[in-house]
Amino acid sequence: MGRNDEERFFHMLRELEENPHVMELKKYRQHKGNTTFRHCRSVAVASFRMAQRLGLRVDEHALARGAMLHDYHLYTRRRETINGLRHLLVHPRLALGNAEKVFALTGKERNIIESHMWPLTLFKPPRSKEAWLVTLADKYCAFREMRGRHGDPDNT
Ligand SMILES: [Fe+2]
Ligand SMILES: [Fe+2]
Repeated sequence: MGRNDEERFFHMLRELEENPHVMELKKYRQHKGNTTFRHCRSVAVASFRMAQRLGLRVDEHALARGAMLHDYHLYTRRRETINGLRHLLVHPRLALGNAEKVFALTGKERNIIESHMWPLTLFKPPRSKEAWLVTLADKYCAFREMRGRHGDPDNT
């Protein structure tokens, strides 16, 4: 197993899950009816598990916060409000803007959020291990969820 402090990571994740600003994400949906809250939690767990498997030492705090806030765009995408491509390209920036209104984010956390759609966000590449893990875990979880698997990625 990896060298990260699992207890620290899950403690932080739990604190975020109980934060009323993060709980806002329960109102929005994506990927075949999954809530954005559940998707973000899955991305956090999957990115931490990946770090463990790869033996990568990570900043548990930044990883938990960046992953939990990566889709903090606070809307459910509907055809009439924002089209697919536009959503794909702009939602990381919207998520970052919203998250910054309610959390004091570090540079690393900001980059995790704004780079998570890379390579679509060409000029905002991931600049840390944590950001690389979140961009990979997001694609992995989105793919699972589109196939109707909304459960905890621990049980894959
Ligand atoms: Fe996203
Ligand atoms: Fe996502």
